[in-house]
Amino acid sequence: MSDAFTREPSWAPRLFPPAARAPRAVQTARMFLDPQGYAGSLRRRFGPVFSLRTSPYRGALVCAAGAAVNRAVLTDHARFEGGDAAALLAPAVGAGSLICTPPPRHLGHRKLLLPSFHGTRITGWTERVRELVQASLPGLLSGDGVAVRPWAQRLTLDVILRVVLGLEDPARVAAFRHALNSFVGTGNLAVLFLPKPLQRDLGPLSPGGRFHRLRAAVRDLTREEIGTRRAAPDRAHRDDVLSLLLDARDEHGAGLDDAQLLDELTGLVLAGYETTATTIAWTLHLLAHHPAARDDLIADLDSGSDRLLKATVNESARLRPAVHHAMRTAVHDTELGGHPVPRHAFVAALFSLTHLDPELWPEPGAFRPERHLGTAPVPYSLTPFGGGVRRCIGVSLAQLETETVLREILAAAVPEPAGPLEPARLVSVTIVPARGGRIRLRGRRSHRPD
Ligand code: HEM
Repeated sequence: MSDAFTREPSWAPRLFPPAARAPRAVQTARMFLDPQGYAGSLRRRFGPVFSLRTSPYRGALVCAAGAAVNRAVLTDHARFEGGDAAALLAPAVGAGSLICTPPPRHLGHRKLLLPSFHGTRITGWTERVRELVQASLPGLLSGDGVAVRPWAQRLTLDVILRVVLGLEDPARVAAFRHALNSFVGTGNLAVLFLPKPLQRDLGPLSPGGRFHRLRAAVRDLTREEIGTRRAAPDRAHRDDVLSLLLDARDEHGAGLDDAQLLDELTGLVLAGYETTATTIAWTLHLLAHHPAARDDLIADLDSGSDRLLKATVNESARLRPAVHHAMRTAVHDTELGGHPVPRHAFVAALFSLTHLDPELWPEPGAFRPERHLGTAPVPYSLTPFGGGVRRCIGVSLAQLETETVLREILAAAVPEPAGPLEPARLVSVTIVPARGGRIRLRGRRSHRPD
């Protein structure tokens, strides 16, 4: 097993918050098939802190669902830290990426990256993101009943390859797309949850062998890009993250070497595209199934306002946050919500349940964008991008992409259902629409002027 799992305490009811009696395999399957429904039933039974006995944890995943416990898990660093939990991702993204950097190095590392993702810098990408959305729209509009998520994955990957790596050459974009889709798709990343010996390269047909081969393909391409850019004469005038990071220096004047850059860029690309695509898919799917909210949004956008746009994206992220939970480990034996939590236990801030807490959100299951107008949410009641020092660094980019897609699509077409509202499935830490978020797009006769 990986170090994180080796240190994890085994299951003993007196050590952990309460859990259902159902066997581990049953709990795992129920979480996969209905993450919000099953975890919601445990919350109603046990309160805001409970244990889930699911694979791959040999003890239990301690779950926190509620604003106060969400805040504790995300911000009380003396008790809950990202180290072990983030290390699970290291074989995929690289131990040097921000996502896997433990404290105290994390803060300095984050400072180096923050300027590249600042809102004002990201706004500079607006027109290019719009062009990419425009170019990919025919693929969506021509279908009669289309799954939005695969379409959006292609788009968000194109965006991130340009913003992060500065790729322009269509052949290079295609090579990256192929390598990343093979690496991330087809269940390959499930290897991260296998025992350590099985993660190794045991030959071309072994899961570990395949994982390492596909990972090497992505990293080779990225390495080439770093080399080319280091030598590029126009680097100082470029605005992609790679070019900016090559010249970034910390307060001691130190920059990132090629190995660190490689991990960093891999982490940014992997963290940034599937999450954004899933968010876009849920928003369009939910709009298709809520015609009153959809028509209000279209009318508002047509009138030149964006009053409802952010509210709609917030409401979609409340009901179906792309990232289901953020994970930490307990630094020492502690408590949460009055329950014991043993040292090294995995602890998850379950955003997807906090967002459905009826005390925070009346009629939590209803899709009502207007609930976000003119009010600020209770702190830590709405955290689709996490919170505290590890809050998502790509928020501005993700919002720019999601809002641009909605503006462009709703100017051209009206999303309608192409079947029933899809249930959510848990895939690693994301919740995705079971059939890709299928919708039908009815073309609009008159488009808004630009
Ligand atoms: C709608 C799309 C997105 C969602 C829902 C999302 C969600 C999240 C969440 C919940 C976290 C916190 C994880 C934790 O606390 O353990 C996070 C962290 C992170 N995200 Fe995002 N993300 C999105 C898009 C992006 C994009 C576009 C990028 C980069 C291009 C990105 C890069 C990162 C990085 C590097 C971190 C780690 C930050 C740190 O540890 O300091 N994300 N994201």
